[in-house]
Amino acid sequence: MSDLAKKALNIGDLRQMAKRRLTKSLFDFCDKGSEDQIAMRDNRAALDSIKIMPRTPRDVSQRDPAITLFGKKHDLPLLIGPTGPAGFVWYRGETALARAAARANIPFTLASTSNTAMEQVIENGGGTQWFQLYVWRNPEAAFVTVQRALDAGFRALVVTVDSPVYNNREVDVRNGLVFPPRVTPKAMVDGLLHPRWLFGTAGRYFLSEGRLPAFTNIHIPDEETEEATGYVSASSGSFLNRNASLDWDYVTRLREMWPRTLLIKGILHPDDAVAAVKHGADGIFVSNHAGNVNDTAITPWDALPAIVEAVGGKTKIIADSGVRRGSDILKGLALGADAIAIGRATLYGVGAAGEAGARRALDILDAEIRRTMAVMGVTDVAAITRDHIRLPSELPISGTQQQ
Ligand SMILES: Cc1cc2nc3c(=O)[nH]c(=O)nc-3n(C[C@H](O)[C@H](O)[C@H](O)COP(=O)(O)O)c2cc1C
Repeated sequence: MSDLAKKALNIGDLRQMAKRRLTKSLFDFCDKGSEDQIAMRDNRAALDSIKIMPRTPRDVSQRDPAITLFGKKHDLPLLIGPTGPAGFVWYRGETALARAAARANIPFTLASTSNTAMEQVIENGGGTQWFQLYVWRNPEAAFVTVQRALDAGFRALVVTVDSPVYNNREVDVRNGLVFPPRVTPKAMVDGLLHPRWLFGTAGRYFLSEGRLPAFTNIHIPDEETEEATGYVSASSGSFLNRNASLDWDYVTRLREMWPRTLLIKGILHPDDAVAAVKHGADGIFVSNHAGNVNDTAITPWDALPAIVEAVGGKTKIIADSGVRRGSDILKGLALGADAIAIGRATLYGVGAAGEAGARRALDILDAEIRRTMAVMGVTDVAAITRDHIRLPSELPISGTQQQ
C-alpha cells in the first residue's frame, strides 16, 4: 500500500490534504459554493437520503462497472467534469487530471477557464477528452475557442448554460480572491503560510513562464490591439462577464459548427432537457454546478426522475453535484443517469498530490463502486434499476423522520 493510499482512505481525506497544502483563498474557491451553501448541503442530503435496496443472495464474485458512452467503452460509469482551477492548485493540474482519467479509462473534461493550453492537455494527457465552453460577453469570441477545440481533437463539446451571470461567491470576496490573481499583502501572507503550494505550484509557474498562469484557452481579444491574450487586461474587460443572452439559437449555431458529440451542461427542468434533444444535443448534464451558481436550485438528484421520463432515452444523461462515494454513483445510475460526473473529488486529489492524488481519488471511487455493486447484488452496472433504491417518500419509518 502506497503512503498516499494509507493517508487517504476516502475523498474526505484527500479534501483535508488539499486544505493543508493550498492557500485558504484557493481552497475555499474549490471547496465552497455560492451564498449560504444551501444547494451544496442539499446535494449531499439528497444523496444521503436515498437508500439502497440490496438483492441477495447473488453470485457477485465477478463484477464489471464498465459502460459504453457515445460509442466508447469506459471502465467506470464515471467521468471527470470541468473544474476551472485545476491548473492553479497544481502545476499543470489539468494535464494531471487528464492523465489520471486516461489511466482509469474514463473521459476528462477540460474547463474553458483552465490554464494549460488545450493542445498541450490533449497531447500530454491522452485518453478521451472533452472541452467545456462558457460563452463570454462577446459571443463571437467563443466560436474562435470552439474551432480551436475542434482542431485540437476534443471528442465532445460541453456547453455550460446554467451560469448566465457570474455567481455570488461571497467567500471569495471575503478572502480577497480575484482572477487573474493579484499579489496583495493578504495573498502573500496566505502563500507564505502554505509553502508547498507557493513554491511547488506558483513558484514553478514563475520559474518556467515568469508569471502566474493565464487563461490560455479563452479567446479574449484586446480591445486596442485585437490580439488574443490569455490575460484579462483592463482594456479587454472582465472575463467574468458571462453572456446573459445565451439561448437555444446560440446552441443551434454551436450545433452547426461542432460535428462531434455535443452536450448541454446545467439542465434541471424536464422541458429544457426535451429542448436540448430538439436542438441536437447528444447528451445533457443534469447538474446544479455543485451548488456554485444558484444556491437554492433544486438538486440534480431530485430533478433526475422527471427528466429521465421526459427524454425517454433520446439523449444520454450525465448527472453530477455532491458525489463523494461510489455508492452515490450507483444511486445516480439507479435514478436513471447513464453516467456520473465528478468535480471536487478529483480536484481535491490533484490539489493534495497532483496526478498521484487524482489517481488516488479515482482508485477510491473504483473500489467503492465495486464493493457497493457486491452488497447491492449486481454484477453489471447496466443491471441497476430504480428498484435497487428507495427514496425517502418510500421509506415508511426513516422517511417520515426525515421530513
Ligand atoms: C472549483 C470548481 C470549479 C468549477 N469550474 C467549472 C467550470 O469552469 N465550468 C463548468 O461547467 N463547471 C465547473 N464546475 C462544476 C463542475 O463541472 C461540476 O458540475 C461539479 O463540480 C460537480 O459537483 P461536485 O464537485 O460535487 O462533484 C466547477 C466546480 C468546482 C467545484
